[in-house]
Amino acid sequence: MRIDRRNFLRSSGLGVLPVCLPSVITRMAVRSTEKALPVNFIRDGLGLSMTETLDKLQEINRKKPIVPDFYGNDGTMDELLQLFQRLTGKEKAVYMPSGTMANQLAIRVLSGDNTKVFVQETSHVYRDEADAATALHGKRLIPLAPGEAYFTLEALQQSIAYHEEGELFKSGIGVVSIENPVRRCMGKTVPVAELRRISAWCREKGYKLHLDGARLHLAAAFAGVSVKEYASYFDTVFISLYKCVGAINGAVLCGDQAVMDKMEHQIKIHGGALYRNWHNSALALYYLEGLEERLRETAERARELMGQLNRLKGLKLTPFEHGSNCVEMAYGAGIDSVKLSNYLREKHQIVMRRSSEQGKSSLNFNETLLNRPVGEIVAAYREALSRKEIL
Ligand SMILES: Cc1ncc(COP(=O)(O)O)c(C=O)c1O
Repeated sequence: MRIDRRNFLRSSGLGVLPVCLPSVITRMAVRSTEKALPVNFIRDGLGLSMTETLDKLQEINRKKPIVPDFYGNDGTMDELLQLFQRLTGKEKAVYMPSGTMANQLAIRVLSGDNTKVFVQETSHVYRDEADAATALHGKRLIPLAPGEAYFTLEALQQSIAYHEEGELFKSGIGVVSIENPVRRCMGKTVPVAELRRISAWCREKGYKLHLDGARLHLAAAFAGVSVKEYASYFDTVFISLYKCVGAINGAVLCGDQAVMDKMEHQIKIHGGALYRNWHNSALALYYLEGLEERLRETAERARELMGQLNRLKGLKLTPFEHGSNCVEMAYGAGIDSVKLSNYLREKHQIVMRRSSEQGKSSLNFNETLLNRPVGEIVAAYREALSRKEIL
């Protein structure tokens, strides 16, 4: 397969954008005469192999030598943190070794001595952080909207009133923490209108707000709201460096100077001060450049792809309400989804989940969608569905 870089830019509309397209296009140009580049429908990011990551680090270092940090400060890390300040519009950005630590330290510092923390029941903070807020920081997590992607302002107000009015010994409202998009809810987003209402009311009341935006770039691209606008509704925002940005691990937490100035000490006392983190800062800096534009293009192509795949007999793709990069995929009777998936993976380098429950599975759209024209991906599905061996 041959992909002409100039034609791709023209057909995608990206040629007119002042965008650097580091990963996808460079890889495409270099390997245009080789096997078709994979399109991956499982991950939220590029899902680079170890070899690809090492090669990329070498390439970055050759172009401009990576300057090591010292415990998350100086060198290439400073460039990354400045980029995060611009991206989120916050006064200060601090590198954290993990998103879990970013969430927990934001909750701790924003809450001060207040103990009640309001969260989505489905959130990472509530379900996936081993009760750290309670165990380490003396906070009581109060889960809202069980099983749902988001809570409304009214639900928050009711819960706060219930706790404030019904408890004799007050312990204070610490922080309202919101995850967006929500990993446990197939990447659904919190409607921006609801965020605006919640944020305005919390600010009026003096309640602090934290955003777990591990994959905030996906919400931004698919909901059409910028990262900066999302960040503006919160006191602190964390973005992962390895979910849809191509680092190995790590996170950046952004907020006001006064809040963020307290973080270095907190990171140290919780054992998170790592001597060198240059590999993460260099990779994140590289992949963040132009990421918002590339993901906007991904979202556009995802819509086009869904429309075209839905015209094929045997497939039905349905977006989730307030969804981001994840859609439901239902298979027609008689289609063996495992065989279809194996065939597409082997013959067309299109990687989908192998399992399906009750004839349904899901697709995650990510930057690898830019590796191949939509028409070519649709043709691959059409060809696969015409084969007897997948029935
Ligand atoms: C929504 C969300 N928040 C926070 C985290 C924690 O990130 P880390 O693995 O860097 O601790 C994750 C990780 O899966 C996540 O999905």
